[in-house]
Amino acid sequence: MPAISASAPGKIILFGEHAVVYGRPAIAVPVAQVRAKAIVTAEPRAAPGNVRIQAPDIGVEADLGDLPAGDPLGEAVRQVLAATGVARPPALRLRITSTIPVAAGLGSGAAVSVAIIRALSTFLGKPLPDKRVSALAFEVEKLHHGTPSGIDNSVVTYKLPVYFQRVAGDEPVIETLQVPAPFTVVIADTGIPSPTAVAVAGVRRGWQSDPVRFERLFDGVAEIVANARRAIEDGRVEALGALMDANHVALQAMGVSSGELDSLAEAARAAGASGAKLSGGGRGGNLIALVAPEDARPVSLALEAAGAKQLILTTVAGHQPDSR
Ligand code: PMV
Repeated sequence: MPAISASAPGKIILFGEHAVVYGRPAIAVPVAQVRAKAIVTAEPRAAPGNVRIQAPDIGVEADLGDLPAGDPLGEAVRQVLAATGVARPPALRLRITSTIPVAAGLGSGAAVSVAIIRALSTFLGKPLPDKRVSALAFEVEKLHHGTPSGIDNSVVTYKLPVYFQRVAGDEPVIETLQVPAPFTVVIADTGIPSPTAVAVAGVRRGWQSDPVRFERLFDGVAEIVANARRAIEDGRVEALGALMDANHVALQAMGVSSGELDSLAEAARAAGASGAKLSGGGRGGNLIALVAPEDARPVSLALEAAGAKQLILTTVAGHQPDSR
């Protein structure tokens, strides 16, 4: 049997992180420049049921049964076996590689899960539809942090800009966005790893100690997201910069920015970006800056001079090339 591979892009949250955990909407877009890849190969000489997992980037080389409980790679595999009803798969090797920085707000965990779920279910002869892929990846996301909103697995699965909202108990609203006027974003990594779980727990503590203030902050973000959605769908890109700046101020007030993120934001704006904000969990990870295409280079140089460890230039458009 030939090897089966699948890949999934990274993502950035353009507007609405953290508030989205509390039922407000958010907008996220795929980042095709970085991706996770899973390759499944049959191992005809090994005993049936043997699943070997290799993730050289993070030093994992183990049989499925030897991975600790709660390991996200093992959990993704188990989710697929349960969903496809295959109790004893043919012996196989699953190799995972990724160019998405880990713990940087770029959705690496969700992309790895989606790539595994697609490649393995296809290998087993039972490819799963997108909705199911996203739902299984959501289950794995719960291991990364207990209360994921579901936005990461959605945008990474559908590979399109999405407007997302999950109101407790209900099916999430996931709407793909039209982007009549594509726009350019520079993504700058602070180089400071920041697990989403820690940032999410910090916001939770703040919300518990002062719910009125945090609910007001989340409502303010919801309004920013509504305005951003209208601007994106109307092709009014020039309105997005100020909305990004306003969203960053709200995230600062939630306590998830940092000195490094704030300096990168200042440097980007000073070099001509029309707006900048942290993206994802915050406290480290990535900053995003909105630029006119001709300002991408000066803004990138300024971000580098201000300490950015890695830069990715991406264009947000209505369609992404197929990544499978
Ligand atoms: O840090 P990331 O890319 O996993 O983004 C997390 C986004 C949050 O809103 C902070 C959490 C969530 O589950 O939506």
